[in-house]
Amino acid sequence: MPHPCTYVIFGATGNLSRVKLMPALYHLEAAGKLAAETRIIAVGRRDWDNAFCLAEIKKWVTAKARGGLDEALFEQFSRRIRYFRGDITDPEAYLSMRQLFEDDNTLPQNIAYYMAIRPAEFGVVAEQLSHAGLLEENHGWKRVVIEKPFGYDLESAQALQRRISRYLREDQIYRIDHYLGKGTVQNVLVFRFANTMMEPLWNRNYIEHIQITHSEKFGVDSRAAFYDGAGAMRDMIQSHLLQLLTLVAMEPPASMDAESLRDEKVKVLKSVRPIPPKAVHAHAFRAQYTEGVVNGEKVAGYLQEENVPDDSVTETYAALKLYIDNWRWRGVPIYLRTGKRMAESQSLVSICFRHPPQQFFRDSQYNRMKQNWVLLGIQPSECLRVEMTVKEPGLEMKTRQTSLDASLRRVDEVQTDAYEELLLDIIEGDRSLFLRYDEVEYAWRVVDPVLNIWSMERDFIHTYPAGSWGPDESRRMFEKESQQWRHSMDPEQA
Ligand code: BG6
Repeated sequence: MPHPCTYVIFGATGNLSRVKLMPALYHLEAAGKLAAETRIIAVGRRDWDNAFCLAEIKKWVTAKARGGLDEALFEQFSRRIRYFRGDITDPEAYLSMRQLFEDDNTLPQNIAYYMAIRPAEFGVVAEQLSHAGLLEENHGWKRVVIEKPFGYDLESAQALQRRISRYLREDQIYRIDHYLGKGTVQNVLVFRFANTMMEPLWNRNYIEHIQITHSEKFGVDSRAAFYDGAGAMRDMIQSHLLQLLTLVAMEPPASMDAESLRDEKVKVLKSVRPIPPKAVHAHAFRAQYTEGVVNGEKVAGYLQEENVPDDSVTETYAALKLYIDNWRWRGVPIYLRTGKRMAESQSLVSICFRHPPQQFFRDSQYNRMKQNWVLLGIQPSECLRVEMTVKEPGLEMKTRQTSLDASLRRVDEVQTDAYEELLLDIIEGDRSLFLRYDEVEYAWRVVDPVLNIWSMERDFIHTYPAGSWGPDESRRMFEKESQQWRHSMDPEQA
């Protein structure tokens, strides 16, 4: 059983808390993973009282509870929660919080402060917590959880790091990338390092190129104010997709402990070939959705969304071609792609193998053999697929594609949310699925040259209709004419 702790959630009335944190904590309660003494302090600016806050949390949890809300369990869960009204920019609020911890001896002194707030406020909260003595570890550990984005670019990430490291040691900082909490993402490591079959093939000798895609049917919805200042490159590629890339490309770590794992991830990011300003157009592509049809319904274009300025050139689609200059990967192009309002919602890692050295069937009518693919379905398909060529039954020598599937979950096994695992790891002090500062810094170094050029070129952006796979022009990044985006696990629709 994990240690008792107090979870202090800054921004507890906001979107992340509604959609992810409270439901995840409730599911941890259901799984019996919270110590009896564990408490939750929900910090918000709104003029709510405890009863109102609990009624709201009940609604949020009901919307997400697996198998429906269990009233008795929620009752037990709600006894842990207390609403704390306070303005995070006001030093007085921190002094009253300190008073609360001194007066109420039922609150565990192991404290995890969760910053579910605007990135611009991370620094000020760390500073205020420190000034109020709320980071002192005399009677228990103090940890701070920071959501992405960690900075806006390399320079601001460095500035944020300088600021928070005045008050916090690195081992107290938990930088979340929720993608790492996904079971399917962790399975990339298991697939690679718990099986010997693939390892001899996992390199430039056999792999022609790699694609990592995260596409969504959703638009920006109520997040436009945040999203317009970020864009797809910062929102998805700098964080989630580069993290996925490190897991696909890294060398086996010395052990699965946090430092060994993160050392290997950093080595991958350090080996990414820098993109010079002149090469940005060959390596990166951006676009924005216009109106279109998604799930049979007409939807607005990005510029028509609420809170988006008419002249915005923020990208809702971004693609990036990278090379990793090391012995394993030199010369293998890696294509990362993400977009909102696309044809499907899915995350997929697609590994394309080289053609056989000899075109064995060159005299038959099927003279061009298909390549093998290994597909790692992250979501919604949770499956590992190896695509092979086989002979079609019948008298002629014809071939077709078939696949070997290894699905990750049996039907009777529940799918937990990434936040459940991560919230538990914080209590247990396991930092292997959290980002060390150098990972964040090197990830910014990869995308910064592109962001710099894009920020200067503000008079044109490609467009694509909502509900499509993005502009065809993005294919210009491919190294070879024969390469194309892999949209689906299904070879027929690929
Ligand atoms: C978030 C991004 O980090 O990840 C969102 O800010 C994106 O824009 C989301 O939609 C995708 O993650 P998931 O787990 O919901 O697919």
